[in-house]
Amino acid sequence: MKSAVILISGRGSNMQALVEAKPGLDFRAVISNRPAAAGLAWAAEQGIATRVVDHKAHSSREDFDAALARAAADFAPDYLFLAGFMRILGAGFIDRYPRRILNIHPSLLPCFPGLDTHRRALEAGVKLHGATVHFVTPALDHGPILVQAAVPVLGADTEESLAARVLAQEHRIYPQAARWLAEGRVEFRGADVVQV
Ligand code: GRF
Repeated sequence: MKSAVILISGRGSNMQALVEAKPGLDFRAVISNRPAAAGLAWAAEQGIATRVVDHKAHSSREDFDAALARAAADFAPDYLFLAGFMRILGAGFIDRYPRRILNIHPSLLPCFPGLDTHRRALEAGVKLHGATVHFVTPALDHGPILVQAAVPVLGADTEESLAARVLAQEHRIYPQAARWLAEGRVEFRGADVVQV
């Protein structure tokens, strides 16, 4: 069975969706850059190893990346899943796991990379919004896209209502992507990635 480590920063609902779906991966650890991340307690309750690599305890991104790399290496994961992980990883970290780090982003990339995606979608007046699972490259939110889910944007939507509609899809497509990886059904073709 392929193994994985999940990186979180907060409540960890995507982490929970991944673990509860039992996609056929051995989730060996959950690592948070925030000591107070609510998701850590949930992971510990499931008997999953937890670690904190506090970004505030490191004076540079390189130091933080190196500490995070050491923590992850302890679990020798095949894959890393970023699940609401709110730090930008440097190339020094990403290059250790080529085509092995996934991220869930709350927009239909390449629209709305970065933060505040739901507010920006409402401001732009788009009628479709959604979520993207992609492989992580040093270009923020621009790596090869594995799967996306779209939701309608409704006239009465607030940031909160739209976020909730998107989150329900995140909880569906991230475990789906994990299952494809577990089953060896993910293939790179040049710069593109496809599910086979
Ligand atoms: C999710 O919408 C994720 O896509 C975004 O931040 C949110 C984190 O939620 N990057 P959770 O911690 O997985 O509950």
